[in-house]
Amino acid sequence: MNKRVVAVRRLDENHLAQLRQLFHVDCFDSLGPDNEQAYIQAMRRAHGLIGGKLTINRQLLDESPHLKVISTISVGYDNLPLDELTQRGILLCNTPDVLTETTADTGFALIMATARRVVELAELVKQGNWLGHIDKPLFGLDVHGKVLGIIGMGRIGAAVARRGALGFGMRVRYSNSSPKPALETELGAQRCDMDELLAQSDFVCISVPLTTETHQLIGAEAFRKMKSSAILINISRGKVVDEAALIDALNEGQIGGAGLDVFEEEPVSRDSPLLQMTNVVALPHIGSATHETRAAMAQLAVDNLILALQGEWPKSAVNEQVLAAKH
Ligand code: DGY
Repeated sequence: MNKRVVAVRRLDENHLAQLRQLFHVDCFDSLGPDNEQAYIQAMRRAHGLIGGKLTINRQLLDESPHLKVISTISVGYDNLPLDELTQRGILLCNTPDVLTETTADTGFALIMATARRVVELAELVKQGNWLGHIDKPLFGLDVHGKVLGIIGMGRIGAAVARRGALGFGMRVRYSNSSPKPALETELGAQRCDMDELLAQSDFVCISVPLTTETHQLIGAEAFRKMKSSAILINISRGKVVDEAALIDALNEGQIGGAGLDVFEEEPVSRDSPLLQMTNVVALPHIGSATHETRAAMAQLAVDNLILALQGEWPKSAVNEQVLAAKH
């Protein structure tokens, strides 16, 4: 048992036990100024790092000479310096697929909640303000039969599109770097450019990863092109949207509402104007946060780490070129 692993957040005893059978494990339930030195100390000897919401910079990498594998318990890895890791020959593994359906469920929950004003009206009842007939000022919008625009038709985008087309008879438009002929056949989805998608969609759902190309992809110009009744759904990363422009668009009635699971800064500030708007449904980044899915993500991350540290091919690697160089 000579290899050492640092485990940060999101691992329960069962997963830690699997790691402890094979490695020495230094475990950190949270990271902060109090245990920063202990974390750096552990990283100096670590061969593997596993956890959620990992942050790692060049300085910490310099302090981690033995590090061979980072196994993030997330599909997204925009918080990690991929090129730097690849250059240093450090393998990065993530957890795709196991969270696809759950994250799409979250997207659809936001579509339903915003269109039918679920949060706002549930609150009205709880506050004891259901005093008579609900009339026009409190009516919502239909979801079924509407146009659903998907920006980024990857696994999660496709799963949202499937729910819309097959469950709610929605007409799906999508913008994506490559066409998806199988989804076009299955769902009648139509690929179009971003301008068309924005102009035609009743719901615009963002499901692209955050990269330098997608940073603030949706800003003032995009909001001007959307229908005034359209609802923006963001289940990817907050920084894909220019949040100040979103606030302006909502204030000026350029769009009808927003369902947001992610924000530019997380946790979102309690002073954000978004939180004062009744036509905004805000969630605390819970795309994949169910018992079943988080357990599946943790297991996949554990499997990836064990395989990779044992010199085998992991189930899901981001920078496979690191592996290829070694095999
Ligand atoms: C992911 O896996 O990237 C989700 O956003 C949850 O963190």
